[in-house]
Amino acid sequence: MSDFLVVKNLHKTFRSRKQTVEVLKGIDLSIEKGEIFGVVGYSGAGKSTLVRCINRLEEPDEGSVLIGGVDVTALKKSELNRQRRKIGMIFQQFNLFDSMTARQNIAYSLKNSGMTEKEKEERISEMLELVSLTDKRDAYPGELSGGQKQRVGIARALANRPDVLLSDEATSALDPQTTLSVLDLLLQINKKLGLTILMITHELEVVKYTCRRMAVMEQGRFVEQGLVSDIFRNPVCDTAKGFIEVYNRFRSDTFSE
Ligand SMILES: Nc1ncnc2c1ncn2[C@@H]1O[C@H](COP(=O)(O)OP(=O)(O)O)[C@@H](O)[C@H]1O
Ligand SMILES: [Mg+2]
Repeated sequence: MSDFLVVKNLHKTFRSRKQTVEVLKGIDLSIEKGEIFGVVGYSGAGKSTLVRCINRLEEPDEGSVLIGGVDVTALKKSELNRQRRKIGMIFQQFNLFDSMTARQNIAYSLKNSGMTEKEKEERISEMLELVSLTDKRDAYPGELSGGQKQRVGIARALANRPDVLLSDEATSALDPQTTLSVLDLLLQINKKLGLTILMITHELEVVKYTCRRMAVMEQGRFVEQGLVSDIFRNPVCDTAKGFIEVYNRFRSDTFSE
């Protein structure tokens, strides 16, 4: 296995007249092709900023992002747009267009793909089938459950056949059963397509279920990184200890009286 998504020394500071917030303080990360890699951290740790810097929705101040050997941070605007199609993204709040049907939401991401209308329709059908939503093709987001909305989000994110999927808290707004079904879908797609996934979450069970390796993020830094099994057995940093303690307490075999 070779490293596919590589982040080196990534820094990002937000500056306004009132304040300066240093959000990423030198992130190093290396994910293998086809790997699902987890990043956990409390709210405000900088997880979403990391994701947004990887696809350059935010411009990092320093450092680099390489995907399949391509230095994303060095790309000019036109090249970046092409490269961005190779990076899919899914979100906690799904970010679908409410005024568009499932089909139209997926079609939107194929807008500048250079495909013919016929090719687009074929791809849309293929994606709807992949996420088991063929029968919801003409449904609007308002007519779909949370899990179905996220499936549309996944179909849209994968329509351009990306190499990498950035998942930013994609199951955090879903109930446990739906979370499990969305994770099973991502696992199935990961196997089928060899998709590399960066799984950002604050839910430890999500990481345990899907990832072999993980990192723990604390105030803009990765303070711990390694095998999920090692970190679960022997958490070192305070954040990892805190996460594991809560995880274990919820799973203790005592009942409330
Ligand atoms: N555009 C922005 N301008 C100023 N501060 C921001 C901006 N985006 C995020 N931040 C700050 O960066 C920190 C990390 O945010 P975020 O990356 O969303 O963390 P997480 O996803 O881990 O909850 C927070 O303190 C947040 O207020
Ligand atoms: Mg976030």
